[in-house]
Amino acid sequence: MNKINNFLPNQYDQDQLFSVKHNYLSEQFSDYKTILSKIETVIVNNDFTLGREVDQFEKNITNIVGTKHCVAVGSGTDAIRLSLIALGIKQGDEVITTPYTFHATIGAIVTAGAKPVFVDIEDDFNINTQKIISAITHKTKAIVPVHWAGRPIEPLKLSEISSKYSIPIVEDACHAIMAHRDGIKAGTIGHTGCFSLHPLKNLNAWGDGGFICTDDTSICEKLRLLRNHGLESRDSCNIFGFNSRLDTIQAVVANHLISSLPHITKMRIKNALLLDEKLEGIKQIRTPIRDPKIHEVFHLYCFQAENRDALVSFLNSRGIDAKKHYPIPMHLQKAAKYLGYKKGDFPIAEKLADSTISLPVHEFIIPEQLDQMAELVRSFYNG
Ligand SMILES: Cc1ncc(COP(=O)(O)O)c(C=O)c1O
Repeated sequence: MNKINNFLPNQYDQDQLFSVKHNYLSEQFSDYKTILSKIETVIVNNDFTLGREVDQFEKNITNIVGTKHCVAVGSGTDAIRLSLIALGIKQGDEVITTPYTFHATIGAIVTAGAKPVFVDIEDDFNINTQKIISAITHKTKAIVPVHWAGRPIEPLKLSEISSKYSIPIVEDACHAIMAHRDGIKAGTIGHTGCFSLHPLKNLNAWGDGGFICTDDTSICEKLRLLRNHGLESRDSCNIFGFNSRLDTIQAVVANHLISSLPHITKMRIKNALLLDEKLEGIKQIRTPIRDPKIHEVFHLYCFQAENRDALVSFLNSRGIDAKKHYPIPMHLQKAAKYLGYKKGDFPIAEKLADSTISLPVHEFIIPEQLDQMAELVRSFYNG
């Protein structure tokens, strides 16, 4: 195995090359001194683990997502993993999920002890709910759907499957804060809704963080134990658990940003829909069908494009931080070899992995940059 360094993901280290960037953190945190002064209070109070800021963050989230409880944890990955463990998932259990996701979804399932069972997606990037049914066996103990790119999955179909087969749902809503469909918010369909505060998520912090939303009080209590060594008090351990508390300093950052979340979301939607308009008529590309009942929050703006790799290189060479999100589906990853899947098993996921491109639509993208991106895509195909 190659030596693995503490690498920065390329959205950080390559962004100096681009004029239209995926990374907007310098602009977003231009008022960082205000946040630093709030962090000073944490230091003065010695409130270093959990404490008031984490309490406040959990309250803020229940107000936004609308569940009874929120448990703040160390990352989005841990939100999924601890949810599965809290639901009693153990070695040998099967968990149905999508092959079209970030590696963390699958890592969380595997490190909880279960076997991931993949189900193909639809053209809108989300798991095919109809196909979930044929993947259910007596070993299936949970379903982990992903609201990919912030496009919410059909909630009623998911709930129907969950109650008909008595299989709990752990939603990977890491891309989807404030997304809703048919009036139901992402993160509130399943037994738990899992979110990430990773720096480039729609609600973000200065490092890792995550949180779990649930209406189930007993799961909430179990999660509170699991994230903090299973401790009921300093000296009494109820179950052996993890150290996966949301860092208090990250809670300060997230609490500071949370009042901007409606604006951040509004701007992403506005930019994405404008980009839809500007890209209209280019017959070599295909965006998911938009529907007013599907309130997408565009963590990523993704579309399918003919000759995708050349288009990405072309845009990169002209200063646009276009990306492939993500070129290798999970069943074809080296890490998944032991599961025995092969190329051709999930044709839609494979087609989208080969053809999907993403463009930045965050709140600091300006209309001229949207024009520039659309014109470049058009000119690529028009030669
Ligand atoms: C779909 C998806 N699920 C889970 C995660 C994991 O979140 P975190 O990085 O906070 O562990 C990510 C992170 O990028 C993600 O994109």
